This record gives sequence, C-alpha cells and structure tokens, in this order.
Amino acid sequence: MNHIKSIKGTHDILPEESRKWQNLESIIKDTCAKFGYQEIRTPIFEDTNLFLRSVGEETDIVSKEMYTWEDKDGTSLTLRPELTASVARSYIQNNLGGKSPIQRLYYIGPLFRRERPQKGRQRQFHQFGIEAFGSSHPEQEAEIIALAWHILLKSGLENNTKLYLNSIGSKDCRIKYRDALKKFIRPHLNKLSKPSLQRFETNPLRILDTKNKDEQMLLKGAPKISNYYSNSDFEHFESVKHFLETMHIPYTINSALVRGLDYYTKTVFEFTSETLGAQNALIGGGRYDGLIETLGAKSTPGVGFAAGMERFLIAMTDLDKKENRFKPDIYFICIDEKGLPIILQIANQLRSNGYKAIFDPLRRSMKAQLREANKSGARYALILGENEMNNDSIIFKDLNDSTQKNVLQTNVINFFDNLTN
Ligand code: HAM
Repeated sequence: MNHIKSIKGTHDILPEESRKWQNLESIIKDTCAKFGYQEIRTPIFEDTNLFLRSVGEETDIVSKEMYTWEDKDGTSLTLRPELTASVARSYIQNNLGGKSPIQRLYYIGPLFRRERPQKGRQRQFHQFGIEAFGSSHPEQEAEIIALAWHILLKSGLENNTKLYLNSIGSKDCRIKYRDALKKFIRPHLNKLSKPSLQRFETNPLRILDTKNKDEQMLLKGAPKISNYYSNSDFEHFESVKHFLETMHIPYTINSALVRGLDYYTKTVFEFTSETLGAQNALIGGGRYDGLIETLGAKSTPGVGFAAGMERFLIAMTDLDKKENRFKPDIYFICIDEKGLPIILQIANQLRSNGYKAIFDPLRRSMKAQLREANKSGARYALILGENEMNNDSIIFKDLNDSTQKNVLQTNVINFFDNLTN
C-alpha cells in the first residue's frame, strides 16, 4: 500500500528545524515587545468576502490562489491567504479602536496560497507581521520599518537585504496616474504579454511590476507616479525618507514598486534578499488608510508589513553556512616529516599574530596536501621541502595566481604582514 504523503507545497517542520523557528520567534517577540506591539491571533479561515473586499478581486491572490470552499450552510469560506484583512476584521469587530486611539498588533502564523511551489514559495507558509492602526502620520511608517530593521539586525541579515521604498500616492493621485500610464501604454498594447494585457484593463499599475525584460525596457519611458503626487503625498513621503535617514536605515527608491494587494496607499516598501533567488521578497508592507472604511467601519488609517518566515530561515541558514565555514589564511605543506617542528613553530607564531593557519597531520603526499590546501579556501600555502630546510627558508605560494617566492623562515611574519596590509 502506498504511504500517504504531505500535500504538494506543504512541509513538516522537524525537531532540528523547529529550534531555528523558536529562535526566530523569540527575536520577533522580543523586538515587538520593545516597540510596544502586542500579539493578536485570528482564525485560520474567514468569510471569503473579507478577502474579496480588502485584498481585491483582480489581484493574483484572490483571483487565482485562494483555497475556497462552500460550507454546508452555503457560506463561502477561505483559508486565509494573508493576515492584514483578518486583523482589520478583528479590529473592527472587537472595537479595538475604541479601546485606544493607537493599536499596535503583531502576529505569527500559517497562511495558504495556491501558488506554484519552488524555493521560498509554498502553498502553506508562515508569516510574522505587524499592523498599526490609528496614525496617518509618516512617523508610523518610520516606526514599523525600524521594527523590521531591528529584526533583520538581530537575525544577522541586515547586510544581505535591501530596502526598496516607494509612494503610490493617495487615491486621487493614483486615478490621475492610472490614466496617464494607460495613455502611455496604449500604443504598445500589441507588445504586451498576456498577463500585462489583462492588467492593463484591471490594474494597470501592476504592469510596472513586470518581470518581462522587453516590458521593463518599454516602461523606462513611462510617466512617473511622483509627478502626480499631491503636496501632502509629497510631504508625507519626504518625511518618511527623512525619518529613515535620521535612524540610519538605508533605502533605495524604486518607482516600479507597487505591491500586489489593492489596499495600499502612499508608502509601500519591500525588503529583498539576494540569497533567496527568484523569490527574493523577504518583507513586504505599506500604508492602507482606506482598508477599514472599505470593510464598512469608521475610516481609520493603518500601516503594516509581513515577512515570510520560511524565507527568513533560508536566508539565515545561508548566512550561517557562509560564516561558519572555516577558511584558513595559510595552509602548511610539509614534505618531509623532519620539517614538522619548523612548521608547528611558524604556524603558532602566525596564529599569535592573528592569522588562521593549519597544517596536514596525515603526512600525505605533496600533491594530496596541495589539493587539500586549494580545497580549504586558504589564500596561501607555505611549503617546506628538503631544499628549504637546508637553507632555512620556506616557499610562499599564492593559491590564487600560483606565483611563489622563497622567504627566510625568520622573516615569514614580516613578509605576511606586508602582504596583508
Ligand atoms: P505579501 O507581499 O503578499 O504581503 O507577503 C509578505 C511576505 O510573505 C512576502 O514578502 C514573502 O516573504 C512571504 N510570502 C508570500 N507568499 C509566500 C509563499 N507562497 N511562500 C512563502 N512565503 C511567502 C502581505 O501578505 C501583506 N498582508 C503584508 C502587509 C501587512 N501589508 C500591510 N500589512
């Protein structure tokens, strides 16, 4: 009988892995506590209408990726494909705004999207995220981006990630820009791919997001949304940038960043990591001032982000591998065992001077030792043979370009210091 296997795009988290999950979870919880964010847990499934109304019917998530079914009473239910909508629903339903004018919430949990599985893309995956309700001011964006930055710092990922920032302006700005963009694209419709053609009708801004190289070239001449900002859109975005600069959080403006969910307005951002390959978005978020109103409650501004936990862990594991790999500066090759005392002594001197030095304790052939030296990633090999023993020297071989030099044994440290300074 065939064994039953887990469903495509889902994964078990085994004990060895779950240690890493717990470690990441404690970084998230500690950081959220420092910024005054409290945990919220919402159900795994919701009324389908929640996602239709908030994420948007024309988005990839809603139109293609949701796990939706009809319950026995006829209600349409959906496994949550994201959490902002669920948290917004709970905020309204539980009148959290009435309890405090500012609500800072965070969550950790599983989500479901029927995407094509690949590295960093699953059908059941996990996010941690935060949502801040109540402030329409740019310092709120600054706060949440700073929180994301702290988590990246604590996870050691700050140098492997890049923050891309954009403002998609307020609603009026987007309406004007949409018209201008359509006008620009219309003469080129015959060159567009099928998905972009469809987006031209439903959500033309998403065309800016295209991965198609020809379309990217075409869009180079497209109007820029920044030319359509109102004064207040402009000032808001300038303040966000200014606050980030004062906190020394590096960012790059990317005017093509529009995000794939309908509820965003003004600031949007993404942290990406090169180590992740095609699925390089680690964190995504932005402002969504219209969302609460769209869901039928009193207009309340909001801003938040979510990060893929699996992607975080992939990036952290890659980093671990890179950093833990022992790479010596010098690999000693001793051809005759009589030379061992000399090697051991020079190696120790080098180590005392801060260099990483190793030798081959297996007394293998010169060829085998040289092979090992190359494999070790060392930049230099120091080779001691009979000739060198006779004239108190040692061969200094640069393993990058294979050049070599004879150096007096008493001069090795000096020689090395000069080379590396
Ligand atoms: P999102 O960009 O759809 O935004 O997802 C956020 C993050 O979840 C991505 O950057 C990625 O790391 C991870 N992610 C998304 N899909 C998958 C997948 N299939 N497999 C693995 N990881 C995935 C949102 O979900 C918004 N709710 C974020 C937000 C919160 N905006 C405001 N507040």
